[in-house]
Order: sequence, then C-alpha cells, then structure tokens
Amino acid sequence: MTDRFGDLAGSRYRVHLCFGPNCSERGSKQLWPKLEAAIADAGLTGEVELLATTCRNRCDYGPSLNVYPGPVFYNGIDAEAVHEIVQEHLGQGRVCQRWVFRPKLSRS
Ligand code: FES
Repeated sequence: MTDRFGDLAGSRYRVHLCFGPNCSERGSKQLWPKLEAAIADAGLTGEVELLATTCRNRCDYGPSLNVYPGPVFYNGIDAEAVHEIVQEHLGQGRVCQRWVFRPKLSRS
C-alpha cells in the first residue's frame, strides 16, 4: 500500500504526531506513550508506523495528528481522542469524525 508520501513499508497506516513547539506545549509528547500503548492494546503493532514530526502547520489547533493513507488530519487531540482514533480509524478503518480538523471560520 502506498500513500502520497510513498511506500508504507508493510504497514497499513502511518501516523504522524506533531512534536513541534506549539503541539508540544499542548501535550503532544505526553500523548506519545498513550498512542503506543493504544496501538499495542488494539493488537495493531506492526500495522502502524508511528512517527514524531515537526510542525504540521495547524498550530492553533494542536495537538495535531495525521493518519496516512489520506491524509486525515486530527486536531485538538487528548488521551480520549488517541483511544478513539486508534480503535475506530486504525482498528476499523472508519475516520473518527469527532476529532477531524475543522478550521475556524474567519469573518472579514
Ligand atoms: S507545532 Fe504542531 S501543528 Fe505546528
């Protein structure tokens, strides 16, 4: 399977968790072990490639997490979101709508 960034190297999904400065300040680094544990608990180890990344350009909405193929952008995630995204998206292949990135409407 491939995504727009190339071969997934045998994994079904690739997950980017932002470790950029704004997402780190909002707790993304504390979510990393929770994400690893949720993936293991769901029996998905080896199915998911997990990468800590630089800024995903959605700093106002962090912590940011991207899932490939897609990409599907998730934002404002917390421990509950990590659990739901792993169960629904990575486990069952359904985009977890509750946490999908929705930009704020600007008024001009
Ligand atoms: S620091 Fe995470 S989106 Fe910019």
